[in-house]
Amino acid sequence: MEIVLTDRGGPEKLRIDDTDAPAAGRGEVRVRVLASGVSFAEVQMLNHRYPMQPRYPFVPGYDLVGEVTSLGQDVTGVAVGDRVAALMVTGAWRTHVVLKADRLVPVPDGLDAGVAAAATMNGVTAWQMVHRTAAVRPGQTVLVHGASGGVGTLLVQLAVAAGATVLGTASSSKHEAVRALGATPIDYRTEDVAARVRQLAPGGVDAVFDHLGGDSLRVSYDLLADGGILVNYGSATTLHDKGHWLVPYLATMRRFASWWLRGLAGRARGRRATFYYVKPGAAFNSALAQVYRLVAAGELVPPIDKRLPLAEAAEGLRLLMDGKATGKIVLEA
Ligand SMILES: NC(=O)c1ccc[n+]([C@@H]2O[C@H](COP(=O)([O-])OP(=O)(O)OC[C@H]3O[C@@H](n4cnc5c(N)ncnc54)[C@H](OP(=O)(O)O)[C@@H]3O)[C@@H](O)[C@H]2O)c1
Repeated sequence: MEIVLTDRGGPEKLRIDDTDAPAAGRGEVRVRVLASGVSFAEVQMLNHRYPMQPRYPFVPGYDLVGEVTSLGQDVTGVAVGDRVAALMVTGAWRTHVVLKADRLVPVPDGLDAGVAAAATMNGVTAWQMVHRTAAVRPGQTVLVHGASGGVGTLLVQLAVAAGATVLGTASSSKHEAVRALGATPIDYRTEDVAARVRQLAPGGVDAVFDHLGGDSLRVSYDLLADGGILVNYGSATTLHDKGHWLVPYLATMRRFASWWLRGLAGRARGRRATFYYVKPGAAFNSALAQVYRLVAAGELVPPIDKRLPLAEAAEGLRLLMDGKATGKIVLEA
């Protein structure tokens, strides 16, 4: 079985097909999918707003956790029965997938497949931004936009564990959850976020994690302390913009270029802005292994809002689009 995204529109554009995955070829493995995440990327794909998405119809699904059921020729280092994870970008919403063996990361014994799925793309995204891009250090103050979301809940936990004071924007109904993760919540719907951040961090913040893009970037940059970094990793506020999907990214690049030039001219007070993008490869695999170690040790807890059967992927997307979820929605076999 697979879930096919047939066209631009709402969750009703998803169709369930009976198609099955082929046998594994040379260097490939066949995996029975146990769990896969629902993410904002699929919402963008429904709106034809995801950068370089495939043509409709296609099978979405950004990441998966599964069990190896057969090996193609010349596959070493993995065995039938192993539990593994992979970043797919698209194609994970299937009961079985075939993929290159070097894309697989082992899932620790005893780690629940749904929890592992909630920690896969989101965990690496949050871990790399906190520990690589922003290199958050003890004593710093950081602002996490969307602190109640799949990525945001992990960003908050990792930044708190790194010793930072964390401010997090979220809808008020989710403030208790954000507070429980260790952040001071700010209601982006009713409060003046910039004014509230300045009140809580008068000297500015050392990092802002901004998935909103568009006009939010200027506000986020202006909240930085000297030497601070703005990490932009999405363009959620431009979801319903008209025109080509590339337009908001070009605007972001222009904005970043002007800040970079300002830095060259010695007028940026050490502030920087950068874009983060999760991608498959060796760095992803080693970051995911580290994320799983943290999750297995109970030091990082990916909140799961709902577990649904794969056939109810449309309902998962609906919940995410309605802003009902705190943390991750996971599709399970
Ligand atoms: N660059 C990358 O590699 C990468 C990787 C993964 C994800 N992402 C991006 O990360 C973002 C989050 O993805 P996700 O799957 O975690 O989505 P999600 O679970 O739906 O979370 C989105 C969050 O955004 C919050 N939000 C919505 N409008 C907001 C606003 N105006 N101000 C502040 N917060 C707002 C929501 O808060 P409330 O629900 O509390 O209202 C929600 O918690 C998406 O934009 C996605 O594209 C990027």
